[in-house]
Amino acid sequence: MTLKNDLILRAARGEKTERTPVWLMRQAGRVLPEYREVRSKMGGFKELVETPEFACEVTIQPVDILGVDAAIIFSDILVIPEAMGLPYQMIEAKGPWFEKTVKTTEDIQKLRVAEANDLKYVMEALQLTKKELNGRVPLIGFAGAPWTIFAYMIEGSGSKTFSKAKKFLYTQPALAHQLLQKITDSTINYLKGQVIAGADMLQLFDSWAGVLSPEQYSEFALHYISQICSALKEVPLTVFAKDAHFARRAMGQLNCNTIGLDWTMDIVESRELIGNSKTLQGNMDPCLLYADYTTIKSETIKMLKTFGPQRHIANLGHGLYPDIEKDKVKCFVDTIKEFRF
Ligand code: CP3
Repeated sequence: MTLKNDLILRAARGEKTERTPVWLMRQAGRVLPEYREVRSKMGGFKELVETPEFACEVTIQPVDILGVDAAIIFSDILVIPEAMGLPYQMIEAKGPWFEKTVKTTEDIQKLRVAEANDLKYVMEALQLTKKELNGRVPLIGFAGAPWTIFAYMIEGSGSKTFSKAKKFLYTQPALAHQLLQKITDSTINYLKGQVIAGADMLQLFDSWAGVLSPEQYSEFALHYISQICSALKEVPLTVFAKDAHFARRAMGQLNCNTIGLDWTMDIVESRELIGNSKTLQGNMDPCLLYADYTTIKSETIKMLKTFGPQRHIANLGHGLYPDIEKDKVKCFVDTIKEFRF
């Protein structure tokens, strides 16, 4: 099916665009009252993720309500550990929690390499959403990057320092590599399945990149991200490694189209480090959306001008916070859509 709006795909491939395209990380979620309404009808977050009709509905909400240039499938990065054999729970007001974690060689041996079919509900949600979008905007699929998934599988929950996961790297590096490879193989199968099911573009989220040293990041994270980039050439791929300042030069060498920046990364410096062969995505501080409308508009235009007219996909530097007002989000999106160089 031909897309009516393919701005994001063209920007990712480095082709000319009439204006800068925009989508938002966590655009489907608690900032939308319409999301909260669907969510309240369900038993919880997981049920929403695992029911294709509902996942489809909340995936399309931001396209209708906010007017963004892409939909991102409603799911979570933690479906991969679950498909490998470590089920997760999403605890209200606390976040993810795993009953079992990985500690020993046997634990790693017991884990399976996930196949796309193990995550049938995600594949069905993608197929349904693709059909319902009817070519209005591209559909983005995603997965966690191996290091971030590894960190949850070792810690069993979120953490400020991820010191258990880092301890594993220092004390059992060979075992860490075994697990990272299993996660990587699962992620490649999963993302290939997402493309077959209808994803027009993919993003890898390395949310906890920033806790590693540059050397560790290269050995335990980039090595695996690079395998994923090389295995997925069918659609444009974005790598977003939060806080990974030190890895920007190396990211310029990855076999992917787009690099996501967070708001602590200087735009001009990032372009110099990453080079001209990549599209950049980002990078407004989500907290800007707590400011007044005039400030939101002027800061957004400043960001657009600093990135320049081509090879930019506008976004925030991380996900939307649940207490941001919907109209402020809309102001950010509208400012980008109305701006012309
Ligand atoms: O709109 C979108 O961006 C698509 C959906 C999406 C979600 N999670 C939905 C979600 C995506 C792309 C993710 C990725 C994800 N999940 C990441 C990487 C991105 C990042 O934020 O760094 C991470 C680290 C996770 C793990 C995760 N899921 C955490 C830590 C939490 C709790 C956070 C919180 O605010 O409660 C989640 C839950 C989650 N995932 C929610 C949503 C909309 C909130 C659940 C709810 O409705 O209560």
